[in-house]
Amino acid sequence: MDPETLLAMAREAAEHAYAPYSGFRVGAAVVVQTAGGPRIVTGANVENGSYGLTLCAERSALAAACMLGSGRPGEASRSKVRPPAVTHVAIACVDAPADAPVAERTPCGACRQWLAELAPKATYYIDGMPGELRLDDLLPYAFHLDGAGMRERPRARKGRRGAGA
Ligand code: THU
Repeated sequence: MDPETLLAMAREAAEHAYAPYSGFRVGAAVVVQTAGGPRIVTGANVENGSYGLTLCAERSALAAACMLGSGRPGEASRSKVRPPAVTHVAIACVDAPADAPVAERTPCGACRQWLAELAPKATYYIDGMPGELRLDDLLPYAFHLDGAGMRERPRARKGRRGAGA
């Protein structure tokens, strides 16, 4: 995936941000591998008057990637346990001034934790920053559950509803 193409999609996505409080629009474009081939989904930040409930662009795009990327129709049980196969992520803070420091262009802590879960192997492109990053650059020593916490919960047994036991 050409970084400039993906970054252009992230910039375009930022045009759809809802950012009346900060005026700081962010867009993200994510490549996810699906059964039908690679697909690109985008997201933008959606602010909320409570401030704390604001959704960042990265999480908006990752949620869309989850819808596409996990399992095939009829494979519901797989989709519960497999993250989407995200291979590339581009992020654009279009309202950051040209001379803004890197900290005004890179994902917030909450988004880094989401990226650690849903895009751990992706190549990252940040608008205004040369080169590419990996998750380890963004979030070294990321918290991750891959033991019991990642396992599917046992299913309820059929035919027991209303049995009173
Ligand atoms: N924002 C993002 O969309 N992604 C980030 O990783 C950092 C911050 C948004 C949230 C808020 O709407 C605005 O940028 C200012 O913080």
